[in-house]
Amino acid sequence: MAPVFILGIESSCDETAAAVVRSGEQVISNVVASQIATHQPYGGVVPELASREHLRAIVPVVRQALAESGKTYESIDAVAVTQGPGLAGCLLVGISYAKALAFALDKPLIAVNHLEGHIHAVLLEERQKGNHEVRFPVLALVVSGGHTHLYLAEQHGEGWSYHNIGHTRDDAAGEAFDKVAKLLGLGYPGGPVIDRLSQHGDPRAVKFAISQIKHPDRRTAATNPTLIAKDATKGGATGGVSMPGPRFDFSYSGIKTAVLRYVETHNLAESIEVRRRVLSAIAKPKLEDYLANCDPQVLDLIASFQRAMVEDLIIKTLAAARAYDVATVFVTGGVAANNELRKTFEREAAKEGTPVFFPSRPLSTDNAAMIAAAAYPKFLARQLAPMDFSAEAGMALR
Ligand code: KG4
Ligand code: ZN
Repeated sequence: MAPVFILGIESSCDETAAAVVRSGEQVISNVVASQIATHQPYGGVVPELASREHLRAIVPVVRQALAESGKTYESIDAVAVTQGPGLAGCLLVGISYAKALAFALDKPLIAVNHLEGHIHAVLLEERQKGNHEVRFPVLALVVSGGHTHLYLAEQHGEGWSYHNIGHTRDDAAGEAFDKVAKLLGLGYPGGPVIDRLSQHGDPRAVKFAISQIKHPDRRTAATNPTLIAKDATKGGATGGVSMPGPRFDFSYSGIKTAVLRYVETHNLAESIEVRRRVLSAIAKPKLEDYLANCDPQVLDLIASFQRAMVEDLIIKTLAAARAYDVATVFVTGGVAANNELRKTFEREAAKEGTPVFFPSRPLSTDNAAMIAAAAYPKFLARQLAPMDFSAEAGMALR
């Protein structure tokens, strides 16, 4: 079969990205324009500024992705774009641009769910490495700044189905990393900084109890969960198609409050303010700058927070993997870049004989290669988007 070159476009949050992927298995080019510098002074993503930055970046980013791929507008086979979930104004920039491009070039247009993109980032890279033997069913933990979801993913011919068996009840895991970093005067985004600083603290110094979420419908593991998976009912407002089997929900607002309590009871406010001032005066703080402004007590707090987060994500995901008897686990999304998470996940999953796959770090965080990869089976199945489709900020994956 002739190779299929898909141009992917992603603009759901604070990264403008474009990529060309061949037949869902080879990244030809992958360009990501980050807006971190724009949002850093505010300690988080400002939606209006994000939309404006996407407008500025979209044309040069797509041009660069095409130039680096050696393809022309005319020689690509389809245009794929993120439809949701994400910030409506941001999604609209990518969608409007993709529509105009597809219309002008008379190319097929494919709408992709951002979460499906994160899952396909793993498959794309496994295929790129020559691994075409991923065993199903797959349990995918999509863990990022906006999402903490567990999906059972199955392939039926060219088509895919996803069943949500868990999601966060409040903050996403990446959001907790970002909020705790902000609270401790470490700036934005928090995940990468906490990741690096944790290696310099004692992860056992502070005990955090992550609340055990009891879902109202939570039941014991079914005798044959794979059969139940096929019998799924539609529903689940935030997660997509929900399952009648056991659920494995997350909750991370409690740990953020626990860190705040620690700060209050240990009188850390003043030192945090000093750290915030010093670090915000440095354009791009390096690890040495962070370390010079963090005493052992705060490094212990950071390491203990990360350890609690990592343990909770792994315990719940592996419990879900056992309950649904899955063959493979995927861990993807921005938080999947975390070193401690990767290392501990691999060790714990190996004990149970469950293969666990992560994307490389550049494909863990938001990118457009994952959008082009997820679009490939839709291209083959001729699942094309109508020209009047619109952004879906709260889009569920099913
Ligand atoms: O997937 P992503 O780029 O965007 C969303 O779809 O949300 O994820 C961004 C999130 C942020 O919350 C960021 O702090 C977190 O991923 N993150 C990390 C790491 N790198 C990025 N969290 C923990 N450790 C990291 N190394
Ligand atoms: Zn994402």
